[in-house]
Amino acid sequence: MHIPVLLKESLDGLQIKKGGTYVDCTTNRAGHSIEIAKEIGEKGILICIDLDNEALAEAKEKLDKITDKPEIHFVHSNFRHLTSILENLKIESVDGILADLGLSSEELDESGRGFSFRFDEPLKMTFDTEERDDMTTAYEIINNWGEESMADILYGFADETYSHRIAHRIVERRKEKPIATTHELVDIIGGAVPAAYRHKKTHYATKTFQALRMAVNDEIGSIKELIDAIPKVLKLNGRACIITFHSTEDRIVKQSLRGKAESLKMVNKKVIVPSEEEEKENPRSRSAQLRIVEKIC
Ligand SMILES: C[S@@+](CC[C@H](N)C(=O)[O-])C[C@H]1O[C@@H](n2cnc3c(N)ncnc32)[C@H](O)[C@@H]1O
Repeated sequence: MHIPVLLKESLDGLQIKKGGTYVDCTTNRAGHSIEIAKEIGEKGILICIDLDNEALAEAKEKLDKITDKPEIHFVHSNFRHLTSILENLKIESVDGILADLGLSSEELDESGRGFSFRFDEPLKMTFDTEERDDMTTAYEIINNWGEESMADILYGFADETYSHRIAHRIVERRKEKPIATTHELVDIIGGAVPAAYRHKKTHYATKTFQALRMAVNDEIGSIKELIDAIPKVLKLNGRACIITFHSTEDRIVKQSLRGKAESLKMVNKKVIVPSEEEEKENPRSRSAQLRIVEKIC
């Protein structure tokens, strides 16, 4: 089960107002949305966005059960389209925006889309649950991209030290037959990296899987477009909370927010991290970092 991360800290950060309008850009199964919905009450408006339609359907079931629930809009879309999503709903501005980036525990462990190296699954890694022919998948990257481009994403998105060795081994292996599953890929990565790397605490496939997922879903492009939209759609003194889970993600968020300094003020000088108690209860929260900004003009 997915336990919402930094729940109290992000709700406090949003300074939720009764009757206000809020966007959860990464609703998943409503871990944060449910609490936002309860706090804004029946006069409020909540916009629940996610690319994962199965998660959104479960979120709807949960949110429907709340008494005195606000007006809720469920939007199966990429949060990079925030401005047009709000335009379509005829909502001019909002009081708060939450983005809890990355993927949920269910997506990692149960989606069958190849996010985890622990299960042998087809190489997909798409957040979007819709099947479309034009969709980039991990299979396409692994089997069709050039060696240099692959090495670039492994290094650029996940700081993978052995990016070149891994990309080279992938290209060699796919000459024999297409690489179709996560375990085939794990086996190739294992053969490309030194023995000492294979015995580290962090699994040797972690960074490759992170980089592929980021490339498949154009995560950096989406985050940048979301941050571009934030000052345009937030009301004056409105707040946005962004939770990241690894250094590449946090670097992009920090740099992009700094680029908006004339309209967005950082509320917390240092990132907010989970308490020891939260880390103990939910080890997945360990790497979470929360940044809060407020619209100042
Ligand atoms: C960490 S989970 C959110 C968990 C949620 N806050 C909770 O506690 O239940 C991240 C969610 O964001 C979604 N997601 C990731 N990138 C997205 C994007 N660019 N647009 C919309 N949804 C996205 C994923 O499908 C996933 O459901």
